[in-house]
Amino acid sequence: MANQPAIRPKCPFEDLFRRLKQRYSRAASQAVWKGTLGKQESELRSTGLVLGAASRMSPNVKEVRTIVVTGGADGIGRAVVQLCAARGDNLAVLDKNVEAAKMAAEDAIKRGAKCALDLCCDVSSEEQIEKAFEIIWNKLGVPYGLFTSAAVDLGGLVHELPAATWHQVLETNLNGTFLACKHAIRKMRQAATPGSIVCASSPTGFVALAAGGAGAYSATKGGISALMRCMAIDYARYGIRVNAVVPGATETRLMWNNVPSEDIPRMRGVLSKEIPLGRLAQPEEPARAVAWLLSEESSYVTGTHLVCDGGILAKASISV
Ligand SMILES: NC(=O)c1ccc[n+]([C@@H]2O[C@H](COP(=O)([O-])OP(=O)(O)OC[C@H]3O[C@@H](n4cnc5c(N)ncnc54)[C@H](O)[C@@H]3O)[C@@H](O)[C@H]2O)c1
Repeated sequence: MANQPAIRPKCPFEDLFRRLKQRYSRAASQAVWKGTLGKQESELRSTGLVLGAASRMSPNVKEVRTIVVTGGADGIGRAVVQLCAARGDNLAVLDKNVEAAKMAAEDAIKRGAKCALDLCCDVSSEEQIEKAFEIIWNKLGVPYGLFTSAAVDLGGLVHELPAATWHQVLETNLNGTFLACKHAIRKMRQAATPGSIVCASSPTGFVALAAGGAGAYSATKGGISALMRCMAIDYARYGIRVNAVVPGATETRLMWNNVPSEDIPRMRGVLSKEIPLGRLAQPEEPARAVAWLLSEESSYVTGTHLVCDGGILAKASISV
């Protein structure tokens, strides 16, 4: 008994103190933003990171969740931005595509977001990610949620794959996920607030695609799943939940990236026959799973994969 660690009894006011701290840290950071935006914009330009010319803010800013979405300008990330906007969250759209990020932020305001920032940012650059989270902190307060959607899928058999391509896929998908999580968690810890992180994994993190040539992409998705589990354990004690979504074949640009455009209709037909639900997903279908994880509705869920794949992973590959 003498060697056992002492168990600290929970202070009855611990939750109240945490909530008050969260409220005042947000109010303080919003006050700081009013005086320092100009300086931050010029600092950002010098690093190549661009803050949207007019960050869009509706007049009625009150205390709401702030959700950060990397790759939020397109596909599943964009659908998450739209769903979170519709429920009144603040949004930060991080994407390397400046114009699309700007449109996603504008659209978020129209759909009900209190405030939406578009931040042009390459997720593989720690300098840019760190600056982006500094702006988010100053303009929107501590982030409650992060969805790491930004990814590329460059295919090829391993013996033919240029090392540069391998590195590009790893730097965007795996390093980009690590960097976004790192800086989101830093802010959550700085404010001592709980939070929810959702990483984008894939069926390719669990099984090899029969079509082949997906080594680099699959390696990043397996790595993201492993990273997610470790972060879930490391940060559970701080109330920071970390999960992964596993979208199946979803109608986005990335889905058809390695397919010649003339082959897409035929491939869509073949895939639809093989997917138990008989069709590909629309981006908002996995996005709904992500939005649920990025809310208090999923308050007891951490360290898990939410599979939204139409039954792909449940099905044995042999046909008899
Ligand atoms: N679409 C699918 O079938 C499918 C299936 C399983 C998993 N996923 C995963 O879901 C996530 C979203 O995929 P999607 O299909 O919506 O992709 P998408 O191509 O439609 O969108 C990806 C977004 O990421 C951005 N991006 C790419 N590289 C970036 C970088 N270095 N820095 C910042 N932004 C960058 C792109 O500009 C784009 O806006 C990805 O992680 C993907 O691996 C997709």
